[in-house]
Amino acid sequence: MRSESQRSQVEMFHVMDVQAAIAARRARGLDVISLAAGQPSTPAPAPVLAATTKALGESLLGYTESLGIAPLREAIAGHYRDTYDIPVEPDDVVVTTGSSGAFTLIFLAAFDAGDTVAMARPGYPAYRNALSALGCEVIELDCGAQTRFQPTVEMLEALDRPPAGLIVASPANPTGTILDPAELAGLARWCDAHGTLLISDEIYHGISYGRETTCAWNTSRQSVVMGSVSKYFSMTGWRLGWMLVPPPLRRPVERLTANLTICPPAISQYAAVAAFGPESRIELDGHVTRYARNRELLLGGLADLGIDDIAPPDGAFYVYADLGDRTDDSLGWCEGVLEQTGVAMAPGLDFDTRHGNRTVRMSFAGATEDIALALERLAPVL
Ligand SMILES: Cc1ncc(COP(=O)(O)O)c(C=O)c1O
Repeated sequence: MRSESQRSQVEMFHVMDVQAAIAARRARGLDVISLAAGQPSTPAPAPVLAATTKALGESLLGYTESLGIAPLREAIAGHYRDTYDIPVEPDDVVVTTGSSGAFTLIFLAAFDAGDTVAMARPGYPAYRNALSALGCEVIELDCGAQTRFQPTVEMLEALDRPPAGLIVASPANPTGTILDPAELAGLARWCDAHGTLLISDEIYHGISYGRETTCAWNTSRQSVVMGSVSKYFSMTGWRLGWMLVPPPLRRPVERLTANLTICPPAISQYAAVAAFGPESRIELDGHVTRYARNRELLLGGLADLGIDDIAPPDGAFYVYADLGDRTDDSLGWCEGVLEQTGVAMAPGLDFDTRHGNRTVRMSFAGATEDIALALERLAPVL
C-alpha cells in the first residue's frame, strides 16, 4: 500500500485536536466550557439567515463564477470604500472558500517550492504548515513583547536576503495585537522596495478595543489583503473569505481556483451579501460590545490569579498568556485541565514551536457567563 507523501508530514493544527477532544468529552455526557475555539458563539446575523432561506427557495444553487458572484464582490468592494475610504472595485476582489482557501490560492499563485516566506512567531500555525506542505521555506521572525509580537522592518533588514513573501496579521492570532498604521505602512513600503509580496491578514478587522486598524491597500496596492466572514461577521462554518489581489496575480489565482474548487460555496455567497448591510452591522457590533466586556472580565480574573504576563489584546478575541511558572508542556497541561475542570484552552505550542510549551491561548468570544464560570473552575488549577 502506498504510504503518505512527504508534504503531508506537517505539524497538526493542534486546536483542531482540542476540538475533537471537546466533542469526545461531550459525547461522554460531560460538560465543556470552551475557551479553545477561535470562533464566535453566535449565529450569522438575522438578515443573512433570511437571505439563506430565500436562496434555498429561489436559487438552483449550482456552481457560480470561480471568482465569486457579482453582488458579493460588489458588496465587499463597497465595504472597503465605506470602511477605509479606499477605491476598491469588484474586479479587485476574489471570493474564496474561507480565508484559508485564499491563503492556499495565493501561496500557489505567488510562490514556488523553495521560496522563502517570513512571518511572526508566535503566529497562526496554518500559514506555516500550509507553506511547508507546498515546499516553501518558512522564516519565523521571533517577535516578543518589545514589538507587540509583530514583525518590524529591522527584522526584515536583518535577513540574509529579502524573502519572497511576508505574512502579517493585525489583529493577530494568538496575541490579538495590532500593527499601528505607520508600522504596517512601513512594512508595506519595505516589501514593495524589495520585491517581497506582502500578505496582510485582516480577517479580525471590526473586532478591536480602541486601537486603530488600517488596510494594507492604504499604502500598497501591490500587496494582497485577506478578509473573511468568519470572525466579525460570525459565520465561521459558512466557509467564505475573500482577498484583494493586485492585477498581475488575478489570472493565476483564477486559473488555480477554477481547477482546485470550481467556486466557493454558492449558498454562503448568496447569503453573505446581506452581512454587509446596516441591519447586520448593528447586530454584529453588539457582539463586539460583548467581546469587550468578556475581555475585561477575563483579564481582571486572570490578574486576580496572578497571571499578568499577557500579550496586549488590542483586537480579535484572544488572551495569550505565559504560564511558564506553571507548565513547560502546554499541550499536556491543556489536556489535563480539560479532563479535570471541563475548561478547554488552546496550547501555545500550536502558535509557537519554540516557546509555546509555556503559553496558552484563551478565547473570550463566548457567553459572558461562560467566561465567569471558566474563571471559577480554573482558579484551583491556576
Ligand atoms: C489569523 C487567522 N487567519 C486565517 C484564519 C482562517 O479563517 P477562515 O478560513 O475561517 O477565514 C484564522 C482562523 O482562525 C486566523 O486566526
